[in-house]
Parts: sequence; structure tokens; C-alpha cells
Amino acid sequence: MSLRIHKPYILYDDGDHKFVWLGLDESEAEKGILANQYMVVDSGHGLLIDPGGYYVFQRVLENVSEFIDPARVDALFFSHQDPDVIGSLNILLDVFPDATIYISELWVRFIPHLGALDIKRIKPIPDQGMDIVLGKTTLKAIPAHFLHSPGNFHLYDPASKILFTGDLGAAVFPPNTWYLFVEDFDSHAKLMEGFHRRYLPCRRPLDKWLETIRGLDIRMIVPQHGAIMEEDKAEKFLKWLEGLGEIGVEHMEK
Ligand SMILES: [Fe+2]
Ligand SMILES: [Fe+2]
Repeated sequence: MSLRIHKPYILYDDGDHKFVWLGLDESEAEKGILANQYMVVDSGHGLLIDPGGYYVFQRVLENVSEFIDPARVDALFFSHQDPDVIGSLNILLDVFPDATIYISELWVRFIPHLGALDIKRIKPIPDQGMDIVLGKTTLKAIPAHFLHSPGNFHLYDPASKILFTGDLGAAVFPPNTWYLFVEDFDSHAKLMEGFHRRYLPCRRPLDKWLETIRGLDIRMIVPQHGAIMEEDKAEKFLKWLEGLGEIGVEHMEK
């Protein structure tokens, strides 16, 4: 599939409800690891998922504006506290003046270090997760603790059946390689393995997460890095995680 990759790409659209990938910059502007940002729009209200660091902010804002007035962004969802997830927070608070911040309760007291002092706008997500209402849809913040952050959440959208998995599913592309959708899962798995062995702490939280999401009807898995896994690729990804064997500290001790 060829894409103008700096442009957004609509992953789901039923008229009132959209799930949008917010593009990627073709230039040198995106420093650090390439990251995906996403937006859910429902009945004219927007929620941004892991809107990212300083260098991607301009492109994210431009692409959000193609769909809704930034003043209609009600919510910013942060899977965890890493700079590639939340680094642009102090700018986001100015540009999306009515947005509530959703982040694990573990990270709330760290937020002032980003220059964001308006604590009233923060809704801490408790360890067990919570519902987030956007327009007519109730999104689910799903616990994914220790994958890789100790206070970590994924987001499930029941309207599109899309599961955002943060850093789980991350792939690191070699130079001059990039694609938005996984086509050959086995070759893509090689790009995911290094991250999952080293950045995840151990098997137990991964097995617990696999149990947690077992009941969900998942059509697409969208990670914060790497490529999107649809239908059979999403199933293969879950099977791949199940069979990954020792990871993190167990892997390092070998
Ligand atoms: Fe991270
Ligand atoms: Fe990340």
C-alpha cells in the first residue's frame, strides 16, 4: 500500500465514529524512535492516544484539524509516562484547552515536571482500569501493567473493535524500511523480538495481559511503534506473544 505518510489514514469510519492514524513525517523532523499517534472521534468529540513528543506536535495538530476543531478534543489518553508518549504535554494543554488528561494514577505526581501544573485537568486511571466516555461510545482503559511501565494502560474501542496496545507490539524498522500494515507476520516478528525480549520485565505480566484481553472482540491491534496488525495478523501476534518464551530478566539471566 502506498501512502502519503505525513497525511492521516482512517482505520475505521462509520460516519459518526472514526479511528484515525495521525501520520508520520517523511522528513528528518521526527527525532528518536518513530511513533504512531492515533485519534478516536465520536459525534464530533475527539480523544488523542499517545500524542507524542515535542517534534511530532505540529504534524499531530495539523492532522487532528483535518477532522475536528482542536477545541473539540475532550481527552488525551497516555498509556504511560515515557517522553515519546507525553513529551509535548505542556503544549497540548494550551492547544486543546478543554481536554482531560487520562494517565495511570502512578504518574500523576510526575506531571508537573513537564511544565503542566493544571492538576484539575488530570483524571488518574486506577490500577483496575476505567471507562472513558467519548460522545456515544464508552472506551475501555485496559490494565497492561509492567508492559513495559509499572503503571500502563491500553485502550479498547468497542465501536471499531480496535485495541491500542502502547509499546506492546512495537517493531523497530531497519533503515529505509517502513510500512503501516503488517502483511508478512513472520518477517515482521523479527522486527518486534528485540524490544519484547529486553524492554518487558518478565513473563508473568504478559501472561496476565493475555488473560485480560481474551474476552475482547479484536479486529485490529494498533501499537505505538511499528505496524498495524489486522484480523489474522492480530491473532498471530497474540499467539506469538504466548509462545515467546523467556523475556526480560529471565532472558538476561540465561
Ligand atoms: Fe515506553
Ligand atoms: Fe513507546
